[in-house]
Amino acid sequence: MAQCEVRAIPPFLLSGKDGGVWRDAERLLDGVELARGKAMSPASGRMFLAGRVAQRVFAGELLSLPAADLTVAYSCLQCGTGPGTGHGRPGYSYRGAPVPLALSLSRAGGWTLLAAVVGASPGTRLGADIEDPSRTGFDGFDGLALTPAERRNLRNVTVELLPAARARLWARKEAWLKMTGDGLRIAPSTVDVSARPGLRDLGPAETGLPAHLAAAVALSGPVHASGSGGSGSS
Ligand SMILES: CC(C)(COP(=O)(O)OP(=O)(O)OC[C@H]1O[C@@H](n2cnc3c(N)ncnc32)[C@H](O)[C@@H]1OP(=O)(O)O)[C@@H](O)C(=O)NCCC(=O)NCCS
Repeated sequence: MAQCEVRAIPPFLLSGKDGGVWRDAERLLDGVELARGKAMSPASGRMFLAGRVAQRVFAGELLSLPAADLTVAYSCLQCGTGPGTGHGRPGYSYRGAPVPLALSLSRAGGWTLLAAVVGASPGTRLGADIEDPSRTGFDGFDGLALTPAERRNLRNVTVELLPAARARLWARKEAWLKMTGDGLRIAPSTVDVSARPGLRDLGPAETGLPAHLAAAVALSGPVHASGSGGSGSS
């Protein structure tokens, strides 16, 4: 059974302004990642770069390789894969060869969740997602996000528990759609996530995330999680 390693990174504590993040980013990340971070607003760029730094450090530790020596090799169903691709499904290469690591990343509520399967065979797919219940309360969420059966099931949930129930479903959907690689190119309201092989919720004890955040992981094969939750990164 494949083992999924997870690590939760707390809201990034900036030293001074954004100097700490940028210093780590310039030292560790590839040009395509720095360019994406620079194109964002300062706050979004810092969150993006902090997540990328943490993910690279996580990958380096799991592979026992220097993080700075990894090269991004993301894959996007639309744009393809390779060293110049810095968006889509995360991946790295080392000295020109893909590393045996399935990876996924998600950010919400200031937190970043990293998930990985070490020694993954080529074609192993992993998706992880975290969701803040406060972001699911807008009008129209159920119509946009849920299948008719999921909407029917929510009728039995009390008003106080609705945000958490919606966030749990949304985290499962995005974890599943990251695992397939489609992301939100597929309408989430067409993807029922009440029971799918390899898809499961992650609890705070496994991840180290605060209990109010919903989390889920999907793997293209049997999976159980082994957390190093709550540890810092960079
Ligand atoms: C995947 C997706 C649902 C995540 O959105 P989100 O909830 O806003 O963000 P999260 O923080 O949970 O996840 C972001 C991470 O998802 C991962 N990701 C993005 N697209 C992915 C895909 N197609 N497959 C798997 N993982 C993906 C990346 O690791 C990304 O991290 P990054 O910001 O460091 O690049 C959304 O980004 C999406 O639908 N992307 C695909 C859209 C697409 O294919 N567009 C065409 C681009 S050319």
